[in-house]
Amino acid sequence: MKGLILSGGKGTRLRPLTYTGAKQLVPVANKPVLFYALEDLVEAGVTEIGIVISPETGEQVRHETGDGSRFGARITYILQAQPLGIAHAIKIAHDFIGADPFILFLGDNFIRGGIVPQVDAFRAQAMDAQIILYEMSDPSSMGVAVLDADGRVQRVVEKPKQFISPYAVIGIYMFGPSVFEAVNQIQPSARGELEITDTIQYLVNKGLNVRAHKLADAWVDTGRMGDMLEANRLVLDVMPGKIEGSVEDSLLEGRVILEAGARVIHSKIRGPAIIGKNTLVENAFVGPYTAIHHDCVVRNCEIEHSIVLENSQLENIGTRVADSLIGRNVCIQRAEGPAKTVHLMLGDFSQVGI
Ligand code: DAU
Repeated sequence: MKGLILSGGKGTRLRPLTYTGAKQLVPVANKPVLFYALEDLVEAGVTEIGIVISPETGEQVRHETGDGSRFGARITYILQAQPLGIAHAIKIAHDFIGADPFILFLGDNFIRGGIVPQVDAFRAQAMDAQIILYEMSDPSSMGVAVLDADGRVQRVVEKPKQFISPYAVIGIYMFGPSVFEAVNQIQPSARGELEITDTIQYLVNKGLNVRAHKLADAWVDTGRMGDMLEANRLVLDVMPGKIEGSVEDSLLEGRVILEAGARVIHSKIRGPAIIGKNTLVENAFVGPYTAIHHDCVVRNCEIEHSIVLENSQLENIGTRVADSLIGRNVCIQRAEGPAKTVHLMLGDFSQVGI
C-alpha cells in the first residue's frame, strides 16, 4: 500500500501566513502539520509516500521534509502545476501509485488517534474505497456524506448549502485502483476543480464497494486560525513535559517542554506549553496551550493560547496576547507616542483585535 499526501493548493484561508509559506508547514506544537500525516502513515505501515506539491511552495515543502528517511519513509515529490482539485492530484499521481491500493491524506488534516484501525480494516476487506466520517452539527464547509438505513454511502456532496447530514467526510481516504477510472471520467465542478466528492460519488454510482468508517476520536481540518489553535491544544494536551533548555529564577507549572537552547529567565510558564529551540522568555508569562517556535524573543509581556512561528519578537506589550497565530519574523513592540496609539505594519489579509 502507498500513501499520497497533498501539500499543494493555495491556502487562502490562512493568509497572510500562506503568502510566504505552505499552509501544511504551519506548526502544531512546533512541528509542521504535514509531519503528523507522514507519521500517521508510517505508523500504519505505509512507507512509500508521494507528496503532491505546488510550484509556489513545493521547494519549501521539499526542503523541510527531505527524502523521508528521518520518518522511516521514502518520499517521491509530484509537482501539480495548478491547483485543479484533489481528484486532479490523484490523476497526476497515477504513475507513482500504479496498481497499488493507497491512502490519500490531505496535508492540512490532523487526526488525533492516527489511522491504524482504518488502514487495518481497509487491508482486511476487499473495498474499492473507504471514507472516514466525522459527526458535526454544521459540516457545511466540508464534503458531506449521506448514508442509507444500512449505513452505506448513498450520496457525497461538496460543501452543501443546505443541511443534508451531520457527517463530514474527512481528508483521509483509502482507494483501490478503480479510483483512476473515476478521476478520469468526472468533470470540473462550478469552482473549476476535479472534486474528491464527485470521485467518491462516481464509485458509489457504479455500485462499487465504498465503505464509511465513523470516527470516534478528534479530527481537525487546519484551514483556519481557530482550527490551528484546536490542533495545537489536542497535541499539547498529551505531550509529556521535557526540559532541555535552561531555567533561571522562574516558575514552570504543569507540563512544559523547553527545547534545546531555550532560556526562561524571571518568568512564569503555565503548561501545557512548548518553547522552541533558542527562544528567550524573559520577565514574561506564558499561559496554557501556547507554542512558541524557535529563535523567538518573548520579553516583558504575557501570552496564552497562541501559536508563534519562528524568529518572532514580542516585547514590552501592555496587554495580554491570547487566541493568536503570529507568523515568522513578526515584531510586536510597545508603540512610542501618545497613549492608546497603535503603530501597525500589517500584510494583506492580516487580522488584528484591539
Ligand atoms: O478537510 C476535509 C475536506 O477537504 C473535505 O471534506 C472536502 O470534501 C475536500 O474537498 C477538502 O475541502 P477543502 O476545501 O478543505 O480543500 P482544500 O482546497 O483546502 O484542499 C485540501 C488540501 O489539498 C490542502 O492541503 C491543499 C491540497 N490541495 C488542494 C487542491 C484543490 C492540493 O494539493 N491540490 C489541489 O489542487
